[in-house]
Amino acid sequence: MADASNRQFTLAARPEGAARLSDFALVRGAVPSPKEGEVLFRNTLFSIDPYQRNLMGNGSSEWPAIDIGEPMGGPTVGVVEASRHPGFAVGDHVQSWAGWQDYAVADGAGLRKLDPGVAPLSTALGPLGLTGFTAWYGMTKVHDFKPDGTLVVTGAAGSVGSIAAQLGKLRGLRVVGVAGGPRKVAFLKDELGLDEAIDYKAGDLEAQVARALPDGIDAFFENVGGPVFPVLMEHFNTGAKMTLCGTISDYSDTELPKGTNYLPRLVTIIHYRFLSIKAFATPYVMDAFPEFLAEMTPLVTQGRVTYREEFVDGFDKLPGTLLTLFDGSHSGRKLIVRND
Ligand SMILES: NC(=O)c1ccc[n+]([C@@H]2O[C@H](COP(=O)([O-])OP(=O)(O)OC[C@H]3O[C@@H](n4cnc5c(N)ncnc54)[C@H](OP(=O)(O)O)[C@@H]3O)[C@@H](O)[C@H]2O)c1
Repeated sequence: MADASNRQFTLAARPEGAARLSDFALVRGAVPSPKEGEVLFRNTLFSIDPYQRNLMGNGSSEWPAIDIGEPMGGPTVGVVEASRHPGFAVGDHVQSWAGWQDYAVADGAGLRKLDPGVAPLSTALGPLGLTGFTAWYGMTKVHDFKPDGTLVVTGAAGSVGSIAAQLGKLRGLRVVGVAGGPRKVAFLKDELGLDEAIDYKAGDLEAQVARALPDGIDAFFENVGGPVFPVLMEHFNTGAKMTLCGTISDYSDTELPKGTNYLPRLVTIIHYRFLSIKAFATPYVMDAFPEFLAEMTPLVTQGRVTYREEFVDGFDKLPGTLLTLFDGSHSGRKLIVRND
């Protein structure tokens, strides 16, 4: 490690609309040294997630962005290379929020020790990490979804949506997934066993929605937003509950979308059908993480909740891999970049 340097991808510019490769800078610095009570680890796996666009600023998010020159944030899995912390030893596997850099130091508070004998390390970034936690929290803690209704999940073939949809099935709901393209729709029906799947790119959206929702919507897990929502909202039943997890379709928007204003219609639906919409954000609810792990770990290790991963090799691929989440080419699998 003596001649190693610490590569980082930092934010070079705030995006104008969709993020571009030139918004990132590759810089090299010294490998940090752990102080008393700290751990030095090398990141081996990097999670790629839609909210990383929000971290870059100049989009629809109202939350603070990272500063220009700061390393991109995000969850990683790493291996401990030096430890001055009694709870961690060299060779331990850890999950952290270290972002896009080879090496990081942390005190124990920001680290989760992983046991590769329990589940593959990559699951700490997927179904047993923030992705799974997001799905579980949104399905468990936001609303009390009754088991005898119809649940709609948008972005259902994606990392969060596919787990939310499976949890819906496990809890006895009739689950309808919305995704883009025939492959994703086949995945939802054939592999996840959803009751119906809607391909919002197929063109006959209103007819598909009406066919898939003969009894309306009782529970809704929203990941996407955008033009599909106004079609779906017409099908809310009285007392329906909507969990707003994300609206990836507008993360790169710098101004309000043009076109029909659906807000008065939505307010009418909220009013007369007693629609309840609640949003949540995982950074504020991490105290539920142990409960999530206790419930989710056996579901994942027993194969009762399945997940799909796509690995991309090479630290230099980090920015380009993030861009695929927003350019329509993303397969829906959980994207993980492996360090070289
Ligand atoms: N509330 C929280 O704390 C929290 C935490 C983590 C994630 N989230 C949110 O959860 C949602 C799902 O995240 P994920 O990690 O599971 O992502 P993902 O679904 O794996 O990837 C994004 C998918 O979104 C779909 N999509 C639909 N319209 C899109 C558009 N205009 N631009 C780009 N993608 C579009 C695409 O699938 P199709 O081809 O099927 O359209 C794409 O594959 C996101 O909104 C994310 O921000 C929220």
